[in-house]
Amino acid sequence: MIRNDNIIDGKALSNTIKEEIAAEVKVLVSHGERAPHLAAILVGENPASQSYVRSKVRSCEQVGFQSTLIQKEVDITEAKLLELVDQLNKNEEIDGFIVQLPLPKHIDEMKITMAIDPSKDVDGFHPVNVGKMSLGLDCFLPATPYGIVQMLDRYKIETSGKHCVIVGRSNIVGTPMSILMSRKAKVGNCTVTLTHSRTKNIKTELLRADIIIAAIGYPNFVTEDMVKQGAVIIDVGINRIEDSEAKRGYRLVGDVDFEACKNKALYITPVPGGVGPMTVTSLLMNTLKARKFS
Ligand code: GUN
Repeated sequence: MIRNDNIIDGKALSNTIKEEIAAEVKVLVSHGERAPHLAAILVGENPASQSYVRSKVRSCEQVGFQSTLIQKEVDITEAKLLELVDQLNKNEEIDGFIVQLPLPKHIDEMKITMAIDPSKDVDGFHPVNVGKMSLGLDCFLPATPYGIVQMLDRYKIETSGKHCVIVGRSNIVGTPMSILMSRKAKVGNCTVTLTHSRTKNIKTELLRADIIIAAIGYPNFVTEDMVKQGAVIIDVGINRIEDSEAKRGYRLVGDVDFEACKNKALYITPVPGGVGPMTVTSLLMNTLKARKFS
C-alpha cells in the first residue's frame, strides 16, 4: 500500500509560521517600531552554505524583516572576522546575526561563536544559550532542533514516555536534540539514546525507537530494516548526490531511505521539504524574539 498521509510537510508548516511572523511584523511596524533585522556572515564560496544563506535572506524578505548579507573572502583572517563580529554586536540596528558554518580551517569556529553577543546569537550556538537550554531557561534554541520541536508540536505527535533514538552527536543538531527531547516539557519527556560513530550496534538501538532523529550527513543511512513499524522518523540530512538527469547535476537526499521507510512510519519527514524549511523559519522566530527583547 502506498501512503502519503503520514508525510510531515515542513514546507507548508514553515509557510504557515512565516505568515504568523509576517502578521506580527506588520503590527510592530504599524506601531512605529523598526522591523526585525537579521545579518548573516558568509565566508568563502561553499555552494551548500551559499544556498542556505540565500534561503535565509529570501525568507527575511518574505516576512518583512530587514536583512544584511556580508560576504567575505575565504582567506579572511580570524582577527578580521572577530572584528566584524564585534561591529555587529555593537550595531543597534541589527537584532541578531549568524556566522554561517563551516568556516575555513584556519579559523577557530568556537572562538568566533564565543565572540557573538548571546543576546544576538539567533543561531543559539553560544555556550550561554546552550547552557540556558540545558537548564530549561529562556534562550535562543538552535534553529534545526527548534524546527523539529515545532514540527512535533504542531503535528501533535506524542513524545511523552517515548523512546527517542538520535543518530549523530553534532553540536548543531544531535547533542541539543538529545537535551530537548529529554526535558520536562510539552515536546520532550522522552527516554533518549544518542548514537554516534562509536555506537556498537546502531541497528539494535534504532529498532527500539518510537522516534528516530537522523542527523549524520550520510545519504540513506537509515534503511527499512532498522525501523520499527509505527516509528516517527525525522530526517535532518541534506546530502547532494550526483545525478546526471537532474538539472543541476545533483539531487538532494536525506539520511533516511525515504521510499523504503515511508510505509513503516507513523510519520516521516521528506528531503527536501521537511526539516530544511523549518530550520530557516526557526531562525526567523529567533530574530523576531531578539527584536522584541532588544
Ligand atoms: N551550517 C549548517 N547549519 C547551520 C546553522 O544552522 N547555522 C549556521 N550558522 N551554520 C550552519
